[in-house]
Amino acid sequence: MTILVTGGAGFIGSNFIIDWLAQCDEPVLNLDKLTYAGNLENLSSVRGDPRYAFVQGDIGDRALIEGLLQRHRPRALINFAAESHVDRSIHGPGEFIQTNIVGTFNLLESVRAYFASMNDAEKSGFRFLHVSTDEVYGSLKASDPAFSETNRYEPNSPYSASKAASDHLVRAYHHTYGLPVLTTNCSNNYGPFQFPEKLIPLMIVNALAGKPLPIYGDGQQIRDWLYVGDHCSAIRRVLDAGRLGETYNIGGWNEKPNLDIVHSIIDLLDELRPRQDGQSYRQQIAYVTDRPGHDRRYAIDAGKIERELGWRPVETFESGIRKTVQWYLDHAEWISNVQSGAYREWLDKNYSGRDA
Ligand code: NAD
Ligand code: TYD
Repeated sequence: MTILVTGGAGFIGSNFIIDWLAQCDEPVLNLDKLTYAGNLENLSSVRGDPRYAFVQGDIGDRALIEGLLQRHRPRALINFAAESHVDRSIHGPGEFIQTNIVGTFNLLESVRAYFASMNDAEKSGFRFLHVSTDEVYGSLKASDPAFSETNRYEPNSPYSASKAASDHLVRAYHHTYGLPVLTTNCSNNYGPFQFPEKLIPLMIVNALAGKPLPIYGDGQQIRDWLYVGDHCSAIRRVLDAGRLGETYNIGGWNEKPNLDIVHSIIDLLDELRPRQDGQSYRQQIAYVTDRPGHDRRYAIDAGKIERELGWRPVETFESGIRKTVQWYLDHAEWISNVQSGAYREWLDKNYSGRDA
């Protein structure tokens, strides 16, 4: 038995593969295009492991996917591959449409043909698990209840709209073709190997480099933060026991305004790697122009996965953020390797136009 993971060289996918191989013996085939966000260095601990194999390729390449499915005959496909950063989707939505919508459609078509070639026993064991986001539900007001699986889809950014479209396709392939699908909608993740374009690693990396810590707008936007290891355990649980065709919200029961997140990071850095001038990293906070269409609040009601599958996060925000800050402090070389010319160009594109 084998599982096929797409996008396994990215942040969550690489954590998932490392966790998977630590917990069971089932081989993993990782298909990743290696965009700017894909980094094989994340998987250096499993390179050479006979249970792990990597193929570079695009989920939109149907001939490649069909060949891999026929050759490896995986019993599950877990789709992490996506363009994942809201700010990039604002600057250039095209890649998001291509990978998140057209790419997912291509995967579904390939899997539909593969599923049709299976015998009954293979069919009953097969799963297509689509990893999605809470951002498909749109933005909450302060007094609104958290997102449940029955909330309507109201995506507001090109990123969330493209993920919403992919979720709809996955749902349709279950209803129309009987494909055994599962969808997870998770809140904001943080932890090791997250590319420093997202809030938490960007703040750590900028703080250590003596650069400004850019807070969009008033910094009071709320996200629900989940440690990546908990997201991985939730996906494993849904894969094992989720009901076919269902969606499961995954979250950390941990809503916090962005400014609180940045203050937590600063407090940890002040403790673990104090600035040489004796001042706090708070000196580096800089309020900048807000993101266009910025969603004010996300919050996840993770009651269904708890009731049906008995899953709850293990990490608290305090334990998870401490591990994360420590990981970045211990991995200066990883940080410097991802700060290529392309990364610097992105920082210039996203931050130079924002007034301080
Ligand atoms: P990421 O950007 O770190 O990684 C994405 C990976 O997909 C990269 O390795 C990239 O090379 C690969 N990829 C991109 N386009 C591809 C293509 N066309 N074919 C094959 N591979 C391709 O993203 P992430 O943060 O690890 O997110 C993984 C998944 O989880 C995404 O689907 C995202 O929408 C979802 N998600 C992320 C979060 C979060 O907080 N990061 C929260 C909820 C859901
Ligand atoms: P991000 O990590 O990009 O995730 P998402 O937009 O998918 O939630 O951003 C998290 C929050 O942090 C979001 O409200 C935007 C805000 N943010 C900043 O204030 N400054 C920054 O430089 C970045 C990257 C994000």
